[in-house]
Amino acid sequence: MRRGIDYQNLSRDDLIYLLGVEDKAEIEEIYAEAYKTKLKYIGNQVFFRGLIEISNICRKNCYYCGIRSGNHNVHRFNLSEAEILKSARWAWEHQYASLAIQSGERDDAEFIDFVEAILLGIREFSGNDLGITLSCGEQTEETYQRWREAGASRYLLRIETSNREFYRRLHPADHDYDKRLECLGRLRRTGYQVGTGVMSGLPGQTNEHLADDIIFFKEHDIDMVGMGPWIPHFETPLGRAHPEIDNTRQLEMGLKMIALVRLYLKDVNIAATTALQALHPAGREMGLMAGANVIMPVITENEHRGDYVLYDGKPVCDENAEGFRLALDKAILKLGEKVAYGNQGNSLHWQKRVGKQHG
Ligand code: 5AD
Ligand code: SF4
Repeated sequence: MRRGIDYQNLSRDDLIYLLGVEDKAEIEEIYAEAYKTKLKYIGNQVFFRGLIEISNICRKNCYYCGIRSGNHNVHRFNLSEAEILKSARWAWEHQYASLAIQSGERDDAEFIDFVEAILLGIREFSGNDLGITLSCGEQTEETYQRWREAGASRYLLRIETSNREFYRRLHPADHDYDKRLECLGRLRRTGYQVGTGVMSGLPGQTNEHLADDIIFFKEHDIDMVGMGPWIPHFETPLGRAHPEIDNTRQLEMGLKMIALVRLYLKDVNIAATTALQALHPAGREMGLMAGANVIMPVITENEHRGDYVLYDGKPVCDENAEGFRLALDKAILKLGEKVAYGNQGNSLHWQKRVGKQHG
């Protein structure tokens, strides 16, 4: 039976109930309420982050991820500094105003220096014009500090699941939930806009887990959220054990999570991620209509793009090709939204937290 829901004041029970809703009209209502909330706080604008995947070398071995260190069938690559700077400049010239720099996790000195050098290189040509989100895994506070000083202002480190026991089931024994939590604390202390997120639709995951994930984001006062549906990758333990998924259900769960995070946290930045697009060609646009306000088009122009494959069916298209860019622009306009070119799109939640008026 349908229950009365106060969408602006959801309880944990409401979240669990809504995650379980299967009636199409009721699901549409959740998306519509979330979209209204997004309009109220953020307006009808979408922020772009030009995504540069700088390396798929990773020391971790997460059971779900295609570039885990245990997968020996991946061609490993590192982009050169020149390649990265070229892409960054392209984004800057095209008014993207923000970049997201992503890689597998490494903590050796060479890598730390390399990331720092890139950040300094970007600052050299762009001044402080480009907002930079880093996503390079767990690091020491000193490393986070160095990267912050070199010009990164946001950091995305997904908690993957906020349930300690479930985290243990998704990762090998030397991957530590508490260390990840500690890293979120370090990021906060070093002054980043802090982003985290989870995967939805994982085997063994419950609606209670997901409701608690949403509550976790709020309790940790998170500024940005990047989430996506889990998609099996054939060369991973989890993907091999569960090779079949129901695309429609996975997409629906991913969209519901976006909607519920928007309704529960209201003023955070939420990305409509590539995993949605892997399940449906218009998955990211659906994400926007369910309350997301950020899209991260891959902007690197190189032969390695097909090697950064975390899950099967990841779309590999030339998003910086003029045709794709214009098509995405047009699709966004058709939704009644527009890309906020030239606007860094800092998290409203963060702006309020630190007392900034504009960003
Ligand atoms: N399906 C969906 N998302 C995945 N990630 C890793 N593997 C998969 C997968 N098989 C996500 C994780 C990680 C981010 C970089 O990609 O959440 O934090
Ligand atoms: Fe490495 Fe991240 Fe993949 Fe884990 S999810 S194996 S840390 S790239």
